[in-house]
Formats: sequence, C-alpha cells, structure tokens
Amino acid sequence: MRKIQFLDTTLRDGEQSVGVNLNEHEKLEIAKQLVRLGIDAIEAGFPVASPGDFQAVKRVADEVKGAKIVGFGRATVGDIDQIYQAIKNAEDARIHIFLATSPIHLKYKLRKTEEEVIEAAVEMVKYAKKYFHDVEFSAEDAGRSELPYLAKVTKAIIDAGATVVNIPDTVGYMAPQEYGAMFKYLKENVSNSDKAIFSAHCHDDLGLAVANSLAALQNGADQIEGTINGIGERAGNAALEEIAVSLVTRQDYFKATSNMHLEQIARTSKLISKLTGMIVPGNKAIVGANAFAHEAGIHQDGVLKERSTYEIIKPETVGYFSNKLVLGKHSGRHAFRERLVTLGYSLTDEQIDTAFNKFKELTMKKKEIIDDDLIMIVDDLQLKEVEKQEKYELEYLHIAGDTSISTAMVRMTMPDGSVMEEAARGDGLVDAVYNAIDRISGMRLRLKDYQIKSVGDGRDANGTVYIKVEHEGVMFQGRGNSTNTLEASAKAYIDALNRMLARRDMLGKEGAKREIG
Ligand code: KIV
Ligand code: ZN
Repeated sequence: MRKIQFLDTTLRDGEQSVGVNLNEHEKLEIAKQLVRLGIDAIEAGFPVASPGDFQAVKRVADEVKGAKIVGFGRATVGDIDQIYQAIKNAEDARIHIFLATSPIHLKYKLRKTEEEVIEAAVEMVKYAKKYFHDVEFSAEDAGRSELPYLAKVTKAIIDAGATVVNIPDTVGYMAPQEYGAMFKYLKENVSNSDKAIFSAHCHDDLGLAVANSLAALQNGADQIEGTINGIGERAGNAALEEIAVSLVTRQDYFKATSNMHLEQIARTSKLISKLTGMIVPGNKAIVGANAFAHEAGIHQDGVLKERSTYEIIKPETVGYFSNKLVLGKHSGRHAFRERLVTLGYSLTDEQIDTAFNKFKELTMKKKEIIDDDLIMIVDDLQLKEVEKQEKYELEYLHIAGDTSISTAMVRMTMPDGSVMEEAARGDGLVDAVYNAIDRISGMRLRLKDYQIKSVGDGRDANGTVYIKVEHEGVMFQGRGNSTNTLEASAKAYIDALNRMLARRDMLGKEGAKREIG
C-alpha cells in the first residue's frame, strides 16, 4: 500500500492566520505534539520574517526530534542563508523555497519573464543544495500557472536537485478534478518526474482544500501539506486531520496509508485551538464539538441499536473519550500522577507538586475535574515555567455594577516587579476591567474580538476567554482561564499586553507575513 507523507505547516502558513502570534515556547509545544501525532515533516516557520521567528525555528530545529524540520523562505540567497543558520542543527532538515510561476504573479508581482523565473529557480535550488540534501521547491500560484510552463519549471528544478516539488493552489481557486489532472499531467509529461516527490498544498477559499488534496493524492502526489484544524492564510489550508482520517476510513477507496497516530488528533486540535485562540466551529469535521453528536431521534435510535448505522468514525479513534469525572477533591497525589501519565505527560516531582497544588485549588471551585481541566493546568504551568519574560500579572480584581453603571478595581504586578492599582468605569463589566488595565499599563489596546469557551460542562466549568486586540496596526491574541469569566477576561487582556511587549521589536512582521501565500 502507498504511504503518504504529511507536511504540517501550522507553525508557518497556520501562523499566517490574521491575529495569530505564537511565541517561541508555544511553537515548541506544538511541534512536540505534532511529533506525537506522527507528522513526517514540520514546517517550523519563516526565519527571515523577524528575529523572533528565526529564534523560534532554531529552537524547534535544535530541540524537536522524531520528524523532519523544514525551514521556509523565498528563493533568494539571503533567505536560504538564514534558513541554513536556523535549521542546521536539526536531526533531519529540509529547506523549502518558493517562486511564483503564474502569469499574474510574473507580470504584476515579480515583473520577470518566464525564462528569468526558470533561471532564478534553478540557480536558487542549486544554491540551496550546497547546504541541504533535501530541497523542496514550490511553484507559487501553480494552480493558475500554464501547464506546459509549469512542466518546464518542474523539469528544470528536478535537474537542479529538488527532491520535493510542491504544486500549491495558493489562492484556493482549483476544482478537485482539475487539480488532480495537473498532477497527472506533470507526472506524465515531465521526463524526470520519478526523481522527486510531488506535493499538494491547498487553500480553502472555495471550501475545496481537502477535496483538492485528496484528488492530488489520487493522481500521484505522495506528500500532502496542510494544517491542524485547517487554520491558515485567509480561509485557511487543508485540514490534515480530515485527510488522515479519510485515508483510514476509506482505505478501500484511496488505497493509501500514513504514519499518523489518529488517537492524538483530539489533543493536537485542542492544543492548537487554545494556543492560537482560533476556536474550532462545532460542526467542523473530525474535531468539532458536534462531530459525533447525534441529535435526531431516528439517528439516536439507530446508533443505540448499532453504532455503524449513523457513525462512520468512532470518537475514540481520533482521541475523544467521554468527558467523564476522572478526579475529585479526595483524589491523592498518586492518582493525579497516574492520570497525567495516561494523558501522555512525563513531569518531574517538582512539576507534579506544583500541578497538584493547582489541581487542589481547582477542586475548591469545581466539583468534577475532567481530563481537559488537567491538560489545562499542566499546559499552563509548562508554558509559565519556560516563559521567563518580565511581564504584567493580575494580582486582584474587584468589580461592581448594575445595568447602568459598571466599575472595576484592578491590581497588577508590573514588568519591573512594582505593584499598581487603578479603578475605572466602563460600558459593562468587561469594558470597566479593560479600562482599568489600560490606565495601569498606560496603553490603549483596541478590542477586535472576544470569545469565551467553556472547558467541559456544568455551571462551575472553567472558562477560557480568547481575545484579539490591535495596537498601532498590529493584531495580538490573548487568552485567559478561570472559573470566573471576568477574571478570565482580565487575564486574556493582560496576556495580549504581554505578547505585545514581547513583540514590540518585531512590528514589521505582519508586513513580511503578507508577502507570502
Ligand atoms: O500557498 C502557498 O503557495 C504557500 C507556499 C507554499 C508558497 O504557502
Ligand atoms: Zn500556503
């Protein structure tokens, strides 16, 4: 049976989603989880985008073992040199460079002739070959390129040493049969096509990214690129979890396998949703909250009689187990540690002690502690431990108000360790809290998005608030957890403030991101 390789670009194309700014520690955590998921190649980022991106790619390359680490950039000497510096210590490294091949991009963006583009592509693949054995070349906007020209480019870059040829549908324009036919054409008309792996990379502007990727796979693509939860530039990328589960569920049809460990899908999806602040819609295939919920009476009756009547995938297959009570306030340290081991964590004694204290605190506020609560406690602690940045922290929050007037008093630790307190009024309680924080920080952030999601169910459930704020034209995300939604709101705002401070030296990044697809 054919084995399909998965290249995950959550940390690169996924991070190009509007308002998503992952820090170095979050990227590292995601990369480690992608290894657990069985991803073959992790595109760690775009090192030239900013010093922070360079550092994050380098840390992933230095520390993450068990998958190929891919550094991404333009087909230029400067980008290639930087990528080499960022990923040279990886256990297994690949460079991924791109140059556009469509008439629109050649005419308006590159202002180059077809010959000039081929020459530059060949020259840069040869240059990259000096550093790397494994070189992926992307013909950007391949979907709108002319096939005979694309075939010429493909032959030339394979001759120059490219090991992977990516045919991206950069603007999500293709239809499945059409995209599949492109791969068939290239495989049949490029004389050296057997010397490289062909890769599909689809965007979801018309909602066809997964269908297009599967059509490519059926026509000779042996690598599929995409992101978890389908996040990414504009409407996003192909959702890798959907493709991986399709291959298993319809193995009879696709006749292909992968290295993916499907039972890690739920954990990966939740982690990425939490760290990017991009909440997964309830009806999203595979990872949406309703993906396995049967509402209609006839369906429920059928499922009770025989699951397969209306269920083609078992929730357990992709790592969803019923959110049962796992621990309570009488649970001891031993049971707590055992549960974390089952969830895949290996913590030091000291870490277990801190996590256990947090767990006990939570049992005072919440009767039933479920796996998602434990995951939240440990993930937050791990991130806190590695983030040594000096930052704002919430000390105390007091609110008062009725329908006409709301006031908040906030006390915070400042990045220099001093403590400040301010009170403010607002148009509602959240507004009052945010006004008080603005007074303390001396900065005014514009709130662009506010969402709240519960972890588990019940009135005492933990809530996570996800926000997006804008400051001087740049968007920042923030997230905060608490059993109290106003405290979670304050923490989210302070988190965004801290991200803004950490990235203040990188304000050019959004501009750099916009250059690529
Ligand atoms: O969509 C795209 O074309 C990309 C790169 C592979 C250039 O993200
Ligand atoms: Zn892309």
